Amino acid sequence: MGERLDKFLASQGLGTRKEVGKLIRSGAVLVNGAPQRDPGAKVEPGADRVTAQGEEIRYQEFLTIMLNKPAGVLSATEDRRQTTVLDLLPEGLRRRGLFPAGRLDKDTTGLLLITDDGELAHKMLSPKSHVYKQYRAQLDAPVEEADIQAFAAGVAWEGEQYAPARLWVEQDPRAAFVEIREGRFHQVKRMFQARGKTVLQLKRLKIGGLWLDSTLQEGECRLLTPQEIQAIFH
Ligand code: URA
Repeated sequence: MGERLDKFLASQGLGTRKEVGKLIRSGAVLVNGAPQRDPGAKVEPGADRVTAQGEEIRYQEFLTIMLNKPAGVLSATEDRRQTTVLDLLPEGLRRRGLFPAGRLDKDTTGLLLITDDGELAHKMLSPKSHVYKQYRAQLDAPVEEADIQAFAAGVAWEGEQYAPARLWVEQDPRAAFVEIREGRFHQVKRMFQARGKTVLQLKRLKIGGLWLDSTLQEGECRLLTPQEIQAIFH
């Protein structure tokens, strides 16, 4: 039984089947301590010890990817006309069942997680789990003390009641930082609308304890480590 070595390494995000095939043939991949140069050799994920270029490949059943989402891209799995976040993934990280865990608006940028782990997505998105999402919003007007208090109390707007949110500014009073634990449609934009302010630009910086990797350019992505996945809930 088991799985082909090239398929296994590709599933762990090491590259396309072709790329990992090359790596295997070069002798850089060891299985249980011995070089394995046959891409079709069978391995037992989670049981056999596999290393590539000296790094141990710790088997992860699911993939979770961090993307620095650019503006103009849909948070969807597919669309007939428009580019989706899944279209941005390099071939080596694409596999069946991946979906964005939560949505950012088309014009919103920043941290988006893409996963095939339904349980993780549910845990992250459920308001009950209290995972705060932090955004930076560029506004058309400065934040006032009354806005901060209104956010803290929970904004009501057009029949919606939003949960209490944290709002603060640092140097620039038009650059607001907001933390919300819900993820409702256009939530940050609407909460500011309720305060008579318009969001000109919106970027997500953080989910729970996990920050957007500042070395990722817009449109770039990488796999999360198991420790980073844990950090979401801390
Ligand atoms: N709130 C919004 O208004 N838009 C987003 O994309 C995310 C949060």
